Amino acid sequence: MYNKIQEAKTYIEEQTKKQPEYGIILGTGLGNLVSKMRIETEIDYKDIPHFPVATVESHQGKLVFGELAGRQVVAMAGRFHYYEGYSMKEVTFPVRVLKALGIQRLFISNASGSTNADIRAGDIVFVKDHINLQPENPLRGENDERLGPRFPDMLHTYDQDLNEKAMAIAAQHKICAHTGVYVGLQGPNLETPAEYEYLHRIGGDIVGMSTVPEVLVARHAGLPVFVLSVVSNQCYPIENIKATTIEDVLKVVRKAEPNMTTLVIELIKLLGD
Ligand code: HPA
Repeated sequence: MYNKIQEAKTYIEEQTKKQPEYGIILGTGLGNLVSKMRIETEIDYKDIPHFPVATVESHQGKLVFGELAGRQVVAMAGRFHYYEGYSMKEVTFPVRVLKALGIQRLFISNASGSTNADIRAGDIVFVKDHINLQPENPLRGENDERLGPRFPDMLHTYDQDLNEKAMAIAAQHKICAHTGVYVGLQGPNLETPAEYEYLHRIGGDIVGMSTVPEVLVARHAGLPVFVLSVVSNQCYPIENIKATTIEDVLKVVRKAEPNMTTLVIELIKLLGD
């Protein structure tokens, strides 16, 4: 794997001279962010050695290099999900490559269902912790010490300071935001009412089908992460659950996109040097 990462890195560095400081995984809810970037180079995933190729229609598949809020960033426009059939190692390969390119922080967005009665559709949640209920782990198998330790500690996985700053920015911009615990499931089905009840009881505030693998690999690689989630459907209390389609999810997410974008831009500005 180390050699594959190096080959991908070498190819990318032949296409762009800029050294990105931030990596941003544009999951659901942040697709718009590239329109706020001063784009310098775009590289299709299909051209990058060993990169998986995106399949979900609502996601594109390219790395976008450029400037955002005065900083050099690389955005992943299009991400990979386990439910699409990729292995966890494939899902997380791009995070390895971003780390090799020298990013200092990784921002990740996603959409989620809420299992907390106080967190409503359209709200934004900064993830403060997670519960991993996905069936495979990207760190399983032989460990390459050049990439990270065999047994990564998970205590300070989510940067509390970043979450506090993000909460302050949300308050300034009158954006309804919370911090919360993300439960990662494999999907692709949504959950039954009994499952939402269970997720609530084990301490989950939101639930989704992504992010945890990328966070595990980022943590393994020593990268600080910031995860923001747009709640597309409220699933607690379970008596109030409504049937949810992908169209419903995308409608709520689109409405929240300007808020998600503002939060990321203002946070990058605030972090400064
Ligand atoms: N469950 C799992 N993933 C999701 C949900 C949900 O209710 N909503 C958006 N992503």
